[in-house]
Amino acid sequence: MQLGQQIGKLVMAGDVIVLSGDLGAGKTTFTKGLALGLDIDETIKSPTFTIIREYQNGRLPLYHMDVYRLENGGGSDLGLEEYFDGDGVSVVEWAQFVADELPAQFLEVSFERTEIDDVRRLELIAHGPHFEQILQQVGGNREQ
Ligand SMILES: Nc1ncnc2c1ncn2[C@@H]1O[C@H](COP(=O)(O)OP(=O)(O)OP(=O)(O)O)[C@@H](O)[C@H]1O
Ligand SMILES: [Mg+2]
Repeated sequence: MQLGQQIGKLVMAGDVIVLSGDLGAGKTTFTKGLALGLDIDETIKSPTFTIIREYQNGRLPLYHMDVYRLENGGGSDLGLEEYFDGDGVSVVEWAQFVADELPAQFLEVSFERTEIDDVRRLELIAHGPHFEQILQQVGGNREQ
């Protein structure tokens, strides 16, 4: 949540963040932090069954998507590009299921849940200079 919050303070309109990792790895929890960083005071609920939830009362709109249910296709019918090109920040859980729809620049966050102590390991990869800059500001390779 803390890392999400830091990143939430730095993102801009049109930014896309994709989250990958097993069920329960912490993707929605990270998004809750990101929403805090965007000054959104609504409760972030997992969009697993709705696929997309929008939050409009923060510094920027947040489009929170969970495309797990599109495992067998259907991503191209959702109009994701309109969200990605929109005025808000898009966060996509299970984005590997809509890989073809992703823009050229995005931030990739992979979550790994360790057996020991229920600890999460996050790997952040910037695709594009804007996200490289954001990662530099949150401390690059620093262990959190
Ligand atoms: N760093 C953490 N330490 C301990 N518990 C955590 C951590 N991150 C998440 N959790 C807990 O793990 C559970 C699942 O987290 P979360 O819903 O964020 O996972 P998810 O990756 O979004 O799962 P899904 O793929 O089902 O959407 C929640 O109860 C959450 O509170
Ligand atoms: Mg989730």
